[in-house]
Amino acid sequence: MPDHDTPAILGQRKADHIDLCYRDDVEARDRETLLDDVVLLHDSLPELSVDEIDLSTTLLGRRLRAPIMVSGMTGGIDQAGTINRILAEVAEAYGMAFGVGSQRAMLRDPSVARTFNIRDVAPTTMVLGNIGAVQAAELPTSALEDLVGAIGADALCIHLNPGQEIIQDHGDRDFRGCVDGIARAVAELSVPVIAKETGCGLSPRTLAKLKAAGVPAVDVSGVGGTTWVGVEALRGRGVRQRVGDALWDWGVPTAAGVHYAHHAGLDCIASGGIRNGRQAAVALALGANVASSALPWLKAAMDGGADAAREVADTFLETIRAVLLLTGSRDLEALRSAPRVVGPTLERWMRLAQP
Ligand code: FNR
Repeated sequence: MPDHDTPAILGQRKADHIDLCYRDDVEARDRETLLDDVVLLHDSLPELSVDEIDLSTTLLGRRLRAPIMVSGMTGGIDQAGTINRILAEVAEAYGMAFGVGSQRAMLRDPSVARTFNIRDVAPTTMVLGNIGAVQAAELPTSALEDLVGAIGADALCIHLNPGQEIIQDHGDRDFRGCVDGIARAVAELSVPVIAKETGCGLSPRTLAKLKAAGVPAVDVSGVGGTTWVGVEALRGRGVRQRVGDALWDWGVPTAAGVHYAHHAGLDCIASGGIRNGRQAAVALALGANVASSALPWLKAAMDGGADAAREVADTFLETIRAVLLLTGSRDLEALRSAPRVVGPTLERWMRLAQP
C-alpha cells in the first residue's frame, strides 16, 4: 500500500470527514432525491387501528423490527468509536440495522477494531461491515473474512465511491477489477455482500453488473443527501476543488435508484438524503426493504448523544406509522401497492429501469 495510507493519515482523514460533515453544508445543492416527486394517496377511511400497524421488514432474509437504519459512517479513531457506540445502542433498542464506516484502518492497525466493534452494546443488532471495492479487489478473501469476524458483522458492505476517490487527494485512480473482486467476495465470504454507493446512486447499468456478480442486496445511496464529491471538494484545493464543485451533485437520484434496484429483484437499502419519515415511507413504497440515513444520525449523536438519536428514531418511525395509517396500509407489503402519483421528472428516470 502507498505511504498515504499510514494510520496517522487515515485517522486525520476520518477526523476531517466527521468535522466537515458536522459543520459544513455537505448536501446536494441543485438536485434532489426525487422522493418528493411521489405523493402517496390519502385514505380518509383507512379502517385500521394504529396499534395493528406492523413496521417490521426483512433484509437478506432477516427480520428487523424497524425499517430504518444507520448507514455506515465511521470508525478508526476514538471520537468515531464513541459515535458508533451511541448509535449502535439506539439501533439495538429500536431493532434497526447498523452499519460501521470503512474498516480500511483496521488493515494497517488491527487494534482500532475496538472503535468499530459495538457488539457488546448491540448483541442482537444486524451489523454491516464496510470496505471499499478497490480494497476488496486487492485483498485475499481471508482478509475480508477477518474484517467481518473482528466486529461480528452479519454482512459486508463493499462501498463503491469512484466519484469521491477521483476528487480526493491521493484517492484511488484505478477502478479495474472491482466487479471481479465483488464476485469473489460474494462467492467466498461466509456472510452476504451488500454493494453500497456513497452518494452518487446506482444506475441500471451498474445494477446489471452487480447482479451478474451475484450480489444479493444493494444500498443505493443516491443523489440528494450528503455528497462525497462535495466533501472532498471542500477538503481539496485548486483544480481538484474546482472539478469537485462542477460534479457536486453528480449521480442518480435516490428515488430512481430504489426503483431500479427493486426492478432488478435485489434487496434494497434506500439511502441518500432521506431526512424525514415521509421520504422514508416513499422509499419503502418504491420497493426498498429499509430506509437508511447517515448525516441526521451523526448530527444527533454529536449534538445530543443517545437521547437525541432516540428522538430521531421516534420521529422517523412515528411518521412512517402515520403514513401507513393514512394510506390504509397495515404493513410494508401493503404500502408497496398503495396508490400514488409520480411526478414527470421521476417518471422519466423510472423509464430506464431494466427487469
Ligand atoms: C459516510 N458514508 C460512508 N459510506 C461508506 O460506505 N463508508 C464510509 O466509511 C462512509 N463514511 C461516511 C462518513 C460520514 C461522516 C458520513 C455522513 C457518511 C456515506 C453514508 O453511508 C451514506 O451513503 C451517505 O452519507 C448518504 O446518506 P445521507 O448522509 O444523505 O443520509
